[in-house]
This record gives sequence, C-alpha cells and structure tokens, in this order.
Amino acid sequence: MLVPSAPVRGPRRSSGLDSLVSNMTNAPIPNNGRGNWGSRFAFVLAAAGSAIGLGNIWRFPVSVSEGGGGAFLLIYLFCVAVVALPVMLAEMVVGRAGEKNPVGAMRHLKPKSPWFLFGALGVLTGVIILSFYSVIAGWTIYYVIEAARGTFQPDTDTEALFENMAASGGIELLFHAVFMILTIVVVAAGVRKGIERTVKILMPLFFVLLVVLMLRALTLPGAAEGIAFYLKPDFSQITGGIWVMAIGQAFFSLSLGMGAMITYGSYLNKQENLPVSAACVAGADTLIAILAGLIIFPAIFFAGMTPGGGGPALVFITLPQIFAQMPWAPYGGMLFGVAFFVLLGVAALTSAISLLEVVVAHMVDDWKWNRRKSAWILGGVIYVIGIPSALSLGAVPALSGFLGIMDGIANYTLVIGGLGLALFVGWGWGLGHALAEIREGTPGFRLAKVWSVLIRYVAPAAITVILGNQIFQLVRKMIAGF
Ligand code: PHE
Repeated sequence: MLVPSAPVRGPRRSSGLDSLVSNMTNAPIPNNGRGNWGSRFAFVLAAAGSAIGLGNIWRFPVSVSEGGGGAFLLIYLFCVAVVALPVMLAEMVVGRAGEKNPVGAMRHLKPKSPWFLFGALGVLTGVIILSFYSVIAGWTIYYVIEAARGTFQPDTDTEALFENMAASGGIELLFHAVFMILTIVVVAAGVRKGIERTVKILMPLFFVLLVVLMLRALTLPGAAEGIAFYLKPDFSQITGGIWVMAIGQAFFSLSLGMGAMITYGSYLNKQENLPVSAACVAGADTLIAILAGLIIFPAIFFAGMTPGGGGPALVFITLPQIFAQMPWAPYGGMLFGVAFFVLLGVAALTSAISLLEVVVAHMVDDWKWNRRKSAWILGGVIYVIGIPSALSLGAVPALSGFLGIMDGIANYTLVIGGLGLALFVGWGWGLGHALAEIREGTPGFRLAKVWSVLIRYVAPAAITVILGNQIFQLVRKMIAGF
C-alpha cells in the first residue's frame, strides 16, 4: 500500500472510554508503508479478536474443571490483573514504539543487545501454537457440518463421533488444511483489507452468538448446579501446578508472551490511548472466558455429566450430547449446534490470524519478504509442523499425546516470553522510554507509578516464583524417582 511517510498527529484526546468511541472514525495514520489500522476501534477489535479464541471457550473451561472450579477462577483473575494486564500494555508500547514485529521492534529499541532473542522465542512460539491450534480449529468446521446434517440426535454416541473423526488421518489433515488456508488468505490480504475487514464482520457475529447461547444455557434445568460448581471455590485443589496452569492460561488467552500485541501495536498511530486499549482488550477477553463458563457448565450439568476429565472432550463430546437434547428435535439441536461451532470457529480464526501475522510480519520487516509470499510459505510450513498434532489423537498411535505436548511447551514459552518482555521494558529498554511512548497518546497517564512497579518488580517476581516452584517440583520428582 502506498502511503506518505510523515506521521500525522491529530489533536490530543482525553483518556477514557469517550475518547475510544470518539476516535472510532479517526483517519488512518501512515506508518512507514507497513500497513496500519483504519481506526482505533479497528485495532481494539483486532486485538480482542486475537485474544478471544479457543483459549476462552475450549481451554479455559477445561482448566477450570481440572483446577477446582471457582478456586482456579480466582487465581486466574489475580494473574490477569497483576501480571497479564501490565504485560499487555508493555507489549502494545513496544510495538508502537518499535514499529515492527517482536524481533525487529526489540532490535530497533535496543540495538546491539541480545534482548531480541525474546522476540525470536515469541515468533517460534507463534509457529508452535498455530501448528496445533489449526488442528483443533479444523474440528470446529467439521462439527459445523455434522451439526447442520442433524447428526446430534438423542441416540448419537458423541464419543464415538469424536473418536472416529480424530482417528481418521484424512479428515484431520483435510480440516487442518481448510482452516489454515482461511487464515492464510486473510493475512495475505494485509492489515487493513484482510485482518481489519475480517474482524469487523466476525466479531459482532461472535458476540450475538455468544449471548444467544448463554441465554439458552442459563435457562436449562440443572443450570444452577453447573454455576455452583463453576463459581464455588474449592481451595483444597490448589497446588503449584494450578498456579502455572493459571498463569499460562492467562498468557495464552490474552495472546501475550509471543508478540501478537507487539505486532498489532506496530500498526498503530501515536494518538492511540494504549492503557485504555489494553484494559478494553484484557477486560473483554476475561469477560468472554467467564461467560463461556456460563454456557458450558450449566450445559454439562443439564446433561447429567460431571465436568472432570477435561481435555478436548469437554467441548467436542459433551456439548454435542446437549445439542441432541434440545427441544424441537431435530431442529433445536441443529440450530444451537451450528451456532456453537460457528462461534468457536470464528473465535479461532481471528486468533489464528494474529498468530500467523506475527511470523509473517517478522519475514516482511526483517527479511524483506513480500507479504503474500510470506503468508503462503509460512502458512504451508506451519501446516506441515501441525501434521503430527493432527495425527496424534488416534490416527497414528505412536504420535499419541503430541498435540498436548505442543500445547504444554507453549504454556512455558509464553510465560518465559512474558517474563522477557517485562524485564525488557522495566530494565532493558527502560521505563522512561516506555512512559514517554505511552504519554504520546495519553498525556495524563494516571497509573504510571502503579504500572511501573507492576512491570518492573511484581510481574517478573510473580512469574519467577510460579515457574521456579514448578521447576523445583519437577526436579524433586526426578530425584525421588531415582
Ligand atoms: N488468545 C488466543 C486464544 O485465546 C490464542 C493465542 C495465543 C493467539 C497467543 C495469539 C497468541 O485462543
């Protein structure tokens, strides 16, 4: 896209939600020809689209049911407020100041230093996550088709349905490919014409579907029991492992620790009120995760099941059983089944786009590749890396557990990436620079002191304690095993 290179600064705005809304129609601000968002609202929508994904609707309820219900929820909220939200702001700041992908931005802000290696870890993490994310997202497409065909009947064995799909290498590879191609097409089309246009259509659709499904779930018989399990804390389940799960989940769900927010922030203009944007994105993501729980737990208890076990089963085996029991059979089940899996697929697509965008932006910025070429080549490579995950759920028994291992690795690399970023902003690049960048768009940043303490001391300390404890336990177990 051809754009003039001089940045245009608009009038300063007061902070707060008003300015978010009043800026919705802002003219785009050029950004070295790399592409940019058409408005502030587009950025917030795209960032929220990245954050809200399988992490909220598939992974979060699984974590809650494995982590003791309400107790996990409380720990999760703590991790979001104290660690993830400050890191989210830090990522946006680094992106807008560095005007590049995570590697390029860190190199630009702190040349001739090894900090960029954290950016590189982020790009690598993006590759790992997208490789298995696309496999699970592919299932949503398969399930939309099954739901529309009226497969979910009261006598349907949904476990067998899931296992047949998972064990069929052909189906797995086909839908993994379909989803990856959708992602590539959007990213190849660019920031404005691809990503922005897509999120503007898909995010409103997502919200409508979410509200409809929640109203249905909350009015099911048994809903109260589900809500009680979900919200009543059982502190006896809390272990160091649960803390790692919670912080990993917070990073995963908010798309932090691998540079998605750096990359999306790099397409922003200097007027943007970053603290308000970060709060909106983190708030929307957390709200949606909580609302997803309000759909899934009532539904599980309605079907007379227990939420333990977790894993992929929760959404892909349990929920179809519930669709089968909807009134006005078979149409009720078809309707809600299609709605639910479209919701899941839409959420996954807007997240997958951001995962691929980080990797593509790295090649475009730092290796001068053409965007279209990067999207297709890298998307293809990530597809291939995802093949063992796609075949790990039954198609090839030797690969059993591979998808879970990739997910587990990402849980750690995201948190390490987040630690690196907090240290970079707090100590490496420097708080003075970061605050100056924030003040370009938010002259009266009132929480400057609080954020500085959080990003410099609290977030790194919390991450170190949580990760350190887990590593200590692992080592202890290994020693005990000898
Ligand atoms: N946040 C996304 C989700 O919740 C996943 C994701 C992780 C996207 C990291 C980008 C970066 O599904």
